Amino acid sequence: SVLEMEVEQINKGKYDHYMQKEIHEQPDSLTTTMRGRLIRGDSRKMKTVLLGGLKDHLKTIRRSRRIVFIGCGTSYNAALASRPILEELSGIPVSMEIASDLWDRQGPIYREDTAVFVSQSGETADTLLALDYARENGALCVGITNTVGSSIARKTHCGVHINAGAEIGVASTKAYTSQIVVMVMLALAIGSDTISSQKKREDIIDGLLDLPYKVKEVLKLDDEMKDLAQLLIDEQSLLVFGRGYNYATALEGALKVKEVSLMHSEGILAGEMKHGPLALVDENLPIVVIATRDACFSKQQSVIQQLHARKGRLIVMCSKGDAASVSSSGSCRVIEVPQVEDCLQPVINIVPLQLLAYHLTVLRGHNVDQPRNLAKSVTTQ
Ligand code: AGP
Repeated sequence: SVLEMEVEQINKGKYDHYMQKEIHEQPDSLTTTMRGRLIRGDSRKMKTVLLGGLKDHLKTIRRSRRIVFIGCGTSYNAALASRPILEELSGIPVSMEIASDLWDRQGPIYREDTAVFVSQSGETADTLLALDYARENGALCVGITNTVGSSIARKTHCGVHINAGAEIGVASTKAYTSQIVVMVMLALAIGSDTISSQKKREDIIDGLLDLPYKVKEVLKLDDEMKDLAQLLIDEQSLLVFGRGYNYATALEGALKVKEVSLMHSEGILAGEMKHGPLALVDENLPIVVIATRDACFSKQQSVIQQLHARKGRLIVMCSKGDAASVSSSGSCRVIEVPQVEDCLQPVINIVPLQLLAYHLTVLRGHNVDQPRNLAKSVTTQ
């Protein structure tokens, strides 16, 4: 009805689509996610993380033999992005499970495990089934959801709300970045506060507090991403190469592109390049290579050289100031993003890819907020 259309326009504000609104909302949604949970004082000791919903269970989590992340789609990718910092700060092995696959295999889950269920909606059937299964096997179940009162929030033993605000677009954007921030805070909360980790922990907390400003900065790439989308509009496929902290960025960037713009896209772990994907490289296939400054930077530089040697058509995402060095071995298009703490870099790096997916979709004339065949929450198996 006309009324419904008007209400919808009011909800979207100055934006044409929910996905666009939700991408641009991220400086605010990240701020709400962190509100009341990070405390920065003058004295060094005051920098701490408070996750109310977990405080009675932290001891049990610290004693667990393994942490298992369980989710689907974007929520799985958010967990994957947070795995390295959780392993680093806690020293506990972290394994990853796609919910349906855990169930298909009836994979081992033990009493000594902490199972962390990540879900925007809190209603995803596959994740719920895995939750029932993990509970039956005696694991401590932690929920990370964006929906207060959802099934996953209710059925887990404890948890953290993402507080990103309602997400309407089928493509998850602001929930993804808020999920990563929650899981980085989770890593800080679980990791012990040893003297040797003190500096790192404080840098991460400072980085978290600064993150909304850095996201605001990276959102200025909007026009540049629209130009890039224009260039790629008729392509059949787009590859995205990442590794380390940004392996998840590669998977999530590709998921965004395929689900809304209906262009084939694949996220590839750069370390696997020579084990198959390299055969695809020629002068036509566009390839995004994520090569921002972190522990994997030099490895990604050599990936870029090898792709250049095969005349690959590269779009390199790098840290500000690195454009010249990443394009020294051949010509490529460059996306320069602000540099942040390595574990927070995935929050920055996904933003240009969200914008790219959005513009590609609009330019190709597809439905941005409700892609064909998809539903916002997948409540059937
Ligand atoms: C994300 O853009 C997708 N629409 C989809 O992969 C989604 O993340 C997945 O279905 C999981 O949903 P949930 O977070 O609500 O559990």
